[in-house]
Amino acid sequence: MAAESLKHRRDLALGFGAELFYDVPLEIVRGEGVNLYDRDGRRFVDMYNNVPCVGHANSAVVKAMAEQQATINVHSRYLHEGIVTFAERLAGLHHDGIESVVFSCSGTEANEVAIQMARVITGKRGLVCTDAAYHGNSELVGSLTYVGHAGHETNEIRGFPYPDCYRPLGEGLSEEALCEAYLARVAAAIESLKNEGAGFAALIMCPIFANEGLPDIPAGFMSRVTDLVHREGALVIVDEVQSGYARTGRWWGYEYTGFRPDIIVMGKPMGNGLPLAATAASKDFVDAFRAKMDYFNTFSSSPLQAAVGMAVLDEIERLDLLRNATEVGERLTSELRDRVDLHASIGDVRGYGLFIGIEMIRDSDTREADAASTELLSNRLKDKGFLVSYAGKFNNVLKIRPPLVFSHENAAEFLVAFDACMEEMSG
Ligand SMILES: Cc1ncc(COP(=O)(O)O)c(C=O)c1O
Repeated sequence: MAAESLKHRRDLALGFGAELFYDVPLEIVRGEGVNLYDRDGRRFVDMYNNVPCVGHANSAVVKAMAEQQATINVHSRYLHEGIVTFAERLAGLHHDGIESVVFSCSGTEANEVAIQMARVITGKRGLVCTDAAYHGNSELVGSLTYVGHAGHETNEIRGFPYPDCYRPLGEGLSEEALCEAYLARVAAAIESLKNEGAGFAALIMCPIFANEGLPDIPAGFMSRVTDLVHREGALVIVDEVQSGYARTGRWWGYEYTGFRPDIIVMGKPMGNGLPLAATAASKDFVDAFRAKMDYFNTFSSSPLQAAVGMAVLDEIERLDLLRNATEVGERLTSELRDRVDLHASIGDVRGYGLFIGIEMIRDSDTREADAASTELLSNRLKDKGFLVSYAGKFNNVLKIRPPLVFSHENAAEFLVAFDACMEEMSG
């Protein structure tokens, strides 16, 4: 009753249609580590939220936030040691060519900066992205989603089919031929932008295609597409908003999938909940961007962002979360893979570190996507105390992406609930 009345007030206050998860929405009042608690004190294991990467209510991060706010927090037009040190440390986590950072407050803003930077550097306008991408919600960045999903193309944006070994472009192709087929689609998108007169400024992509459903990528595609973009005189923007910050067991998704991007976008987990995002590139690129755009962002590059950002990096190192993501992630993925043969409705299990996708299908021959069962499974898991969601072009990939402090014990308790749900759903 209380929940219904809150939902009613929410519809009025926020507008009907402000998205809520689950058939019966959850009211969460407290979090600690990987655990969330509702108003009745019921515990839920958070296996969805990547933002609180070092755990909900992490005490070291909360302390850094409170101390900085009690000392000084101000906009970026003053010298401040902490901001410079944080930028240096962040750039130092990337490959050698990455030297400078532009801070912002959201993944959308950081992608905007990246696109503007690519356009300043190349003098061209055209962008290429996948046909199931999500990079943010501003008019420019949001139009990347629009282009891909709805098949619309503006005169400055082209989509290409994301590389996928499970639902490949052509039947019966070798992996090498499949890779070639996807590269040909990227080349066609670039050609079309050039014919349009927009020219080609950048390819923007998530290094593990998280929103696309974590597809297995044909070997060699990422490095070869990077070479193709460079041959065209354009830049590769990598969106690490989901894949970065130790999620895959490496600092960055691009290390896992093997290529060297020119511009790197980071967001979500950077502030463990404090709005904090960044775009990193070579000093020359950042200098050129700053000279042309005169970029200022009131809440970014602040002492508060720097103090919290440093505390998050410290916690990732202190808690050895790169190792945890690798070890717990690999074990859970392998346990889940064992279930593919047991349930016809599980088509595939794949992932990187603590980012795992379970592809739900209607039929193992046709591999028809089953969005309805994926949603049902996510609701049933919630009823058993485990929070997950789903992703992918067809909304049929159960998405497991917990805070990085998720343990082997958490994985074991999840598997018990998962098996029970699969049993119920097949009965
Ligand atoms: C890959 C990716 N990039 C960018 C964004 C946008 O980030 P924000 O919501 O912080 O603007 C998202 C958000 O889900 C995302 O998944």
